[in-house]
Amino acid sequence: ALERTLSIIKPDAVAKNVIGEIYSRFEKAGLKVVASKMKQLSKDEAEGFYAVHRERPFFAALVEFMSSGPVMIQALEGEGAVLKHRDLMGATNPKDAAPGTIRADFADSIDANAVHGSDSLENAAIEIAYFFPATDVYSR
Ligand code: CMP
Repeated sequence: ALERTLSIIKPDAVAKNVIGEIYSRFEKAGLKVVASKMKQLSKDEAEGFYAVHRERPFFAALVEFMSSGPVMIQALEGEGAVLKHRDLMGATNPKDAAPGTIRADFADSIDANAVHGSDSLENAAIEIAYFFPATDVYSR
């Protein structure tokens, strides 16, 4: 089915100047960018976005890292977009990420792991709405 998912290119990958390289992988896989913005998240915004992880031991470091520099935030649209995007990203820990995935190629650690992607269709809708009003998502 045609789906949308939320993608974030994290501060480490923005600093490495690989935004276009990563967008190219989305496009080659048939995912369309339907909303996009660069933004440096405040700690409050990062905490709100990752609220489901609030009790995890890595939460403080995650919020610190995600607010440490600008990120590139986009909604992607395509057939089976949620799973397709997760396949392109590879495993959360780059040590476990399959060759050729974004995290295998650009991530340095489980914290600085280059990209975020929604883990379900339900969370994708919540995460897209967190960053983009419906009028800023251009379905195509
Ligand atoms: P992300 O997909 O953005 O979702 C939460 C992030 O927490 C995850 O990617 C990792 O960068 C980070 N993280 C750090 N430690 C862990 C861990 N042990 N398990 C899952 N995520 C972790």
